[in-house]
Amino acid sequence: MKIVGISSSPRGKNSNTLKLLDAALDGAAKAGAEVESIDVAKMKIKYCTACDSCYETGVCSIKDDYNGVLEKLLDADGIIWSSPNYITNVTAQLKTVFDRSPLVIHEQLFDGKYSLSLTTAGSDELDFVLGIIDNFMVHCGGNSIGGVGCSVARGPEAMEAAIEKSREMGKDLAEAIKEKRQYPKQEAAHEAFREHFKYVILANKANWTHNCDHWIEKGWI
Ligand SMILES: Cc1cc2nc3c(=O)[nH]c(=O)nc-3n(C[C@H](O)[C@H](O)[C@H](O)COP(=O)(O)O)c2cc1C
Repeated sequence: MKIVGISSSPRGKNSNTLKLLDAALDGAAKAGAEVESIDVAKMKIKYCTACDSCYETGVCSIKDDYNGVLEKLLDADGIIWSSPNYITNVTAQLKTVFDRSPLVIHEQLFDGKYSLSLTTAGSDELDFVLGIIDNFMVHCGGNSIGGVGCSVARGPEAMEAAIEKSREMGKDLAEAIKEKRQYPKQEAAHEAFREHFKYVILANKANWTHNCDHWIEKGWI
């Protein structure tokens, strides 16, 4: 079982959020997962140009570090997403990765994968950012087991508690993967997406040939 952790703070090893990620990966490793940590803030990842060619070819036309990140995510059973709260959102570095992933959404490429979301903030505005990450994962066809957030203003004890909770959640992510845990609400969201999006795929079948072939192969249309 492989679990990939994504960090996205520009503060590198000084990042508060990285402490949660390291603990979650440690928990996952103790539960038997092979783990890897990727810092997208250190990578060269350009903005999506909305060229739409990935829908036709199945690959992104921009050649940069995104493609290697995606390869690792597709190879993983679980993903631990982490981002500090930047203006009540994820960092631009993580948002750029999300924006480069329309193919993942169109083809529901995280189907069968599980994720955990982590954030830290100066305020208590944690759930909103965790929700943004969870929502991305569900849009990609995957399941989120939940998240851990910590307001750094609440001091070192709060951070210690969040680190320990992240470790437990990292273990739980590995357990969710092992038992193929069901999340009925998220599954309903996947079904609703597929029911609606099949008409979008069919309406664009002349250009979105890769998407269309994928949906036929999956039996979704
Ligand atoms: C550009 C920037 C924007 C931020 N925006 C918010 C915000 O909207 N709400 C908040 O609670 N904290 C905000 N913060 C504080 C960070 O979320 C907080 O310090 C976090 O722990 C940093 O995580 P890191 O050490 O992993 O980078 C912001 C910090 C920066 C540098």
